[in-house]
Amino acid sequence: MSDGPTVGESTAGARMAGARMAGARSDSEAGVGDVRIGRHSAPAAGAFRDQVLALWPEVFGPVADEGDWRDRFWEQHRSRDDFRLVTAVSAGELLGFGWGYTGQRGQWWSDVVAEALGAGDADWVGGHFELVELAVRPAQQGRGLGGALHDALLDDLPHSRTLLQTDADARGAGHRLYRRRGWSVLGDLAPQKVVMGKHLRA
Ligand SMILES: CC(C)(COP(=O)(O)OP(=O)(O)OC[C@H]1O[C@@H](n2cnc3c(N)ncnc32)[C@H](O)[C@@H]1OP(=O)(O)O)[C@@H](O)C(=O)NCCC(=O)NCCS
Repeated sequence: MSDGPTVGESTAGARMAGARMAGARSDSEAGVGDVRIGRHSAPAAGAFRDQVLALWPEVFGPVADEGDWRDRFWEQHRSRDDFRLVTAVSAGELLGFGWGYTGQRGQWWSDVVAEALGAGDADWVGGHFELVELAVRPAQQGRGLGGALHDALLDDLPHSRTLLQTDADARGAGHRLYRRRGWSVLGDLAPQKVVMGKHLRA
């Protein structure tokens, strides 16, 4: 899958990108009808910022400070090495998204994970691909979009391993999805959370 077009940073740019993607062929492999799964490098991802922020509360709950989300959270992640955003778009509407980048020691989450895993699993952390977010609009869940986004996000990565944080509850949708796709629990994190890892190549 090739990266999406590089488009401007405006909301109008995002709408145009969405419209272009909606006109593309259906993703029959994922069995998601007319939904187009796209992947975007950091410059192109900028155009999706406002759509991602608009969808965020439906999936994860309210955003306390939208300015902080845009300027610190999103922009910091987008500036990291090998950042990539995946999107599920239908008729110009964003139905789901995911993103990740190369995680390094010295970054907050990497250091938390390194400490949680201890010396035994230290080799996992640093230079890994960090799967940061995966989200599908609630009304669209259960039809394969999450799996398709996951696969597009990890496709063609040069990294040898990938890490993520998810709910410890093995019945949770994310936890189940990851397990079915070859992830395993490496250790416990903050209350009710675990870190999962997956080897991407031998
Ligand atoms: C986790 C999440 C992204 C999964 O998205 P999704 O689009 O529902 O994922 P999928 O449809 O690909 O798979 C979910 C389940 O639906 C099933 N499914 C897939 N296609 C289906 C279809 N056509 N009909 C019925 N069920 C289907 C899958 O088998 C899977 O079941 P399983 O979990 O028992 O294996 C979504 O639930 C979400 O956004 N949750 C909130 C945010 C979150 O928790 N993110 C992950 C943690 S970081």
